[in-house]
Amino acid sequence: MSLAAFLASLDQLATDGPARIAAADSLEAWSEVRNALVGRQAGRLSEIMNGLGALAKEDRREAGQRANAVKQALEGALEERRAAIAAAAATSGPALDLTMPGRRTWHGAVHPVSLVIDEVIEIFRELGFTVALGPEAETSWYNFGALNFPADHPAMDLHDTLYLGDDQVLRTHTSPVQVRTLQQYPPPVRILAPGNVYRRDFFDASHAPMFAQIEGLVVDEGVTFADLKATLTHFAHRFFSPTTRTRFRPSFFPFTEPSAEMDVACGVCAGSGCAVCKHSGWVEILGSGMVHPAVLEAAGLDSERYTGWAFGMGPARTAISRYGIPDIRILYDSDVRFLEQFAR
Ligand code: PHE
Repeated sequence: MSLAAFLASLDQLATDGPARIAAADSLEAWSEVRNALVGRQAGRLSEIMNGLGALAKEDRREAGQRANAVKQALEGALEERRAAIAAAAATSGPALDLTMPGRRTWHGAVHPVSLVIDEVIEIFRELGFTVALGPEAETSWYNFGALNFPADHPAMDLHDTLYLGDDQVLRTHTSPVQVRTLQQYPPPVRILAPGNVYRRDFFDASHAPMFAQIEGLVVDEGVTFADLKATLTHFAHRFFSPTTRTRFRPSFFPFTEPSAEMDVACGVCAGSGCAVCKHSGWVEILGSGMVHPAVLEAAGLDSERYTGWAFGMGPARTAISRYGIPDIRILYDSDVRFLEQFAR
């Protein structure tokens, strides 16, 4: 091939190329044009360059330089065009549809049991109570022995308690925190102890093998059952409604004497009877009583000098009667559609 023929085809490309580049009006068209002009495989420039070897030796230098200049000019024009196409796409694009519904965002919500715990703590905080915590893996002395359970009490049976070892249990109630607190802090003591407890139960509509409790404890000189009744009634009026009726029924716990369970008039049927209150008109919300002298002594206190009262409440049960939840298992399902209803 002659140098003149080689240069002529380069000139042809140098004039045709820019016109084709300018005509590309989309990124797809642009990339086709680029492949056709300067593509390594089948581009026109590569085709022409393949002819370099057929030129006379002394002509190759000039031919190579001219080819390079054309290549640079084409690449410059291509880059300019690509930027122009991209800029045009960014400003036009499909029209904005202002009638389209917004995307729903999930805000998260506080679990109803946590809501109840927070609110109970808030109400008792106003009365001077602070929060105390204890371990969920507990020794059987704190869980039973110090709480005046007799050695053969059925609660200690393998059927009811989850043992971690000979002497270690998953606490079956939050009452061991009473003893731990009294050992650590001298009276006057006014604490709430929220936390999880474990029992060897199967899940059903009203039982769970793990659930939350809130313990309350007051110990000082001269504390009486009247304090217990007045404080817990005040609590019920704050938590449910100022006109909620309450009643105390005699009960039994090894660690309190006397003991009482507190009922509130059913919030769902206002006392006339429904499925939530099992048609009794009342819902039991807590167990309570005067701290047994043996418990005060186990914690190292003089039971002649000090008296106290305590209560234990299940916030899941409370949430159920307050929100009318038909089955306790819903509280453990982590179903967002259920939890979302409690967003605040
Ligand atoms: N610990 C008792 C229970 O789990 C509740 C309770 C606590 C009763 C404190 C009286 C005083 O059933």
